[in-house]
Amino acid sequence: MNLNANLVFLVICSTSVAQEFVDLPAPKNVSYMVTSNAVTLTWNAVENATSYIINLSGTQTKATENTRVVFGGLDANSKYNATVAAADINGTSSTQTSSVTFTTLLSQVKNLKITDATASSMELTWDESPGAISHKVMVSSDGDQMTGADVFVEDNVMFISNLTSMTFYKINVVPVSSAGDGDIATIRGRTDGSGVTLVARWSGVMGPIGGEAQIYRPLTIPAGPFRMRVLLPCPIVHINFWNADLNQDASRAEQGMFVIEQTELWQRNKPEVGMTFYFRENAENGERTACEFFDDDSITVDFDFGQNADLIPRSLSQNTSLLLFFLNGY
Ligand SMILES: *[C@@H]1O[C@H](CO)[C@@H](O)[C@H](O)[C@H]1NC(C)=O
Ligand SMILES: *[C@@H]1O[C@H](CO)[C@@H](O)[C@H](O)[C@H]1NC(C)=O
Ligand SMILES: *[C@@H]1O[C@H](CO)[C@@H](O)[C@H](O)[C@H]1NC(C)=O
Ligand SMILES: *[C@@H]1O[C@H](CO)[C@@H](O)[C@H](O)[C@H]1NC(C)=O
Ligand SMILES: *[C@@H]1O[C@H](CO)[C@@H](O)[C@H](O)[C@H]1NC(C)=O
Ligand SMILES: *[C@@H]1O[C@H](CO)[C@@H](O)[C@H](O)[C@H]1NC(C)=O
Ligand SMILES: *[C@@H]1O[C@H](CO)[C@@H](O)[C@H](O)[C@H]1NC(C)=O
Repeated sequence: MNLNANLVFLVICSTSVAQEFVDLPAPKNVSYMVTSNAVTLTWNAVENATSYIINLSGTQTKATENTRVVFGGLDANSKYNATVAAADINGTSSTQTSSVTFTTLLSQVKNLKITDATASSMELTWDESPGAISHKVMVSSDGDQMTGADVFVEDNVMFISNLTSMTFYKINVVPVSSAGDGDIATIRGRTDGSGVTLVARWSGVMGPIGGEAQIYRPLTIPAGPFRMRVLLPCPIVHINFWNADLNQDASRAEQGMFVIEQTELWQRNKPEVGMTFYFRENAENGERTACEFFDDDSITVDFDFGQNADLIPRSLSQNTSLLLFFLNGY
């Protein structure tokens, strides 16, 4: 009895071995989608296939039950090929394969930097990107809005003109190869110029009167500490600066005059100083006042980079005659 049972089992076994050699057809319609470091392969399902075996350039193999696979960690701008085979429930893969070749996209340009900025233009460069046939450039300011900037690109040098002074721009550079658009590199920088721009304005019969402003110094300045004098059109009840030290001695809140000192290296390296100011902090009385009608032009800033050491007083006691000039000029 036992012997017979073993015999029957062996027969079944040999029959199934014979069935494993029935090949499934190769998956059709293999397509790919590349990035600079990965590929996604998709194909049509094969009837009776329970899995698919994908071999990438003869170096990596993946098995999946889906009709989609992702290989990561690839080199940018490199040629690869892939084969896809269908496998049945017993894991036997077909000898039929579909193959596809593709090239990964370019990675982002390296060492992107602004090499020059005037009040209306910027020049940028980056390391040569081998494989790039061109570069796409997007210039934006105020979020993602496009500007009327004129862009000229040649190889790894870009010149942007028709820009506005004292304005931050975001510049995207995309290297384009025959395989498509590569990864985006982004840099943010501003045009040259100095002065004050009003960022926000609080004004009305009720509520605070004041605003937020940004002071821009020229991009290139002489070495050493420097001072700024900000003149506001009304007496100030409260003021805050950031990236700067307020010189309490030389400032006169009641005259709307503030002297700011940029003495330390970290301050010097900040080409912009922000401030919030209040001509009225709350609306308790709600009185109308001439100060509600201030505009951008009514705030001014002067700089003292050392050549005009007497332009801005270091303290009230040090130069009273100069202070009197300010007060009279008011
Ligand atoms: C090929 O695959 C794509 C999706 O990858 C699919 O949209 C298309 O219908 C397929 N074509 C055929 C002929 O099966
Ligand atoms: C799929 O499997 C069924 C049942 O085993 C079989 O009848 C059919 O011919 C197979 N189809 C293909 C394309 O192999
Ligand atoms: C696939 O890629 C490998 C490795 O680069 C290469 O040796 C092989 O020749 C390629 N096969 C095809 C069909 O392109
Ligand atoms: C991928 O395919 C190549 C060529 O067909 C083969 O020599 C290699 O063993 C396969 N790699 C793996 C990991 O199966
Ligand atoms: C898988 O193997 C079993 C026996 O191990 C066999 O009965 C079955 O027919 C095989 N299936 C296919 C699709 O080859
Ligand atoms: C400069 O930009 C403005 C918009 O900011 C646009 O109207 C004008 O046409 C541009 N000039 C040139 C020469 O591109
Ligand atoms: C004060 O200002 C006057 C007028 O600008 C100038 O002549 C004088 O040198 C200044 N004195 C000091 C101590 O800064």
